[in-house]
Amino acid sequence: MLKILVTGGAGYIGSQTALHLLDEGYEVVILDNMMNGHEDVIPNEALFENQDLCDIDGLEQVFDKHDISAVIHFAAGPSIVSEKAEALPSYYENNLKGTLNLFEVMRKKNVKNIVFSSTAAVYGIPDSTPITEEMDKNPINVYGYVKYMTEKILADYNRSGLINYVALRYFNACGADSDGRTGELHNPETHLIPLVLQTALKKRDKIYIFGDDYDTEDGTCIRDYVHTEDLARAHVYALKKLFEGKLTAEAINLGSGEGYSVRSIINEAKKITKVDFAVEVTERREGDPDVLIASSAKAKELLDWQPEHDLESIIKTAWNWHKSLE
Ligand code: UFG
Repeated sequence: MLKILVTGGAGYIGSQTALHLLDEGYEVVILDNMMNGHEDVIPNEALFENQDLCDIDGLEQVFDKHDISAVIHFAAGPSIVSEKAEALPSYYENNLKGTLNLFEVMRKKNVKNIVFSSTAAVYGIPDSTPITEEMDKNPINVYGYVKYMTEKILADYNRSGLINYVALRYFNACGADSDGRTGELHNPETHLIPLVLQTALKKRDKIYIFGDDYDTEDGTCIRDYVHTEDLARAHVYALKKLFEGKLTAEAINLGSGEGYSVRSIINEAKKITKVDFAVEVTERREGDPDVLIASSAKAKELLDWQPEHDLESIIKTAWNWHKSLE
């Protein structure tokens, strides 16, 4: 049985992917330093290593202990980074140093294949939409920049014949496991859908819309929301293509190709939760482009992947998850 190392497997998308790998008959070793991970979402059937990627000797021991066939790399420090001077060094340390250690240990142990968790934030503010993989990469925050740097490092490792990779650039990851086994647990929470659902649960007084004067039909920002179960499936498809040697160095968008405005998310959530919560329009948030929608043509062509969950299913599964946390 193939054993897959899932770094960051105690996180939101990592745990969902670990569950899917197990369903598909892989053995799973979750590696997580539990800085942002949650014990409750680690699948019982997975092996678990409480290990920091920054500790290269410990990391090497994990590879010695398990016969790892491939890696799926989610662990990359916090997905929200304060760009304050004092926070930056530790962000680079956690993100980049840990990732470099991982690639180095893979090289040493001759583990060739990796699926890397990247982001649509690599594009920054695009000139046009839908966003294709070839478009300019001008990240506007450290998070996007480090992900893009990591893609470039992977490309270098690939050119040297050391690593084959697929970098998956997610758009807005959302939803929860259909069987309620895992879901979103960020702290602090900053993402739209969980905040909306927490408002429906009366954990917040109101939901703020960050600006309604954008260049969109209802004036609120449009994003491409994609369910974590669909993302998880794409990781396993990518892994199979790497094992078959059909992909060796690719960056692929994962989005639905459809956009929803902030207002339409709120309206759909009101319909599903049957709660009429308060909504207030406030100032724009810095760095929010009007519209971010993926071109999903490459994912369809190379991975034969397309999302199965629609917005209703995204919000329903997320709602069940948030209610279960009560
Ligand atoms: N928004 C609100 N009110 C809130 C929270 C969000 O109006 O309380 C709006 C935002 O302004 C944005 C939209 O809802 O227009 C979605 O915001 P999120 O914070 O949920 O997600 P982002 O689109 O900002 O970012 C997400 C991920 C990033 C990733 C990016 C890639 O969080 O990690 O998608 O497109 F890089």
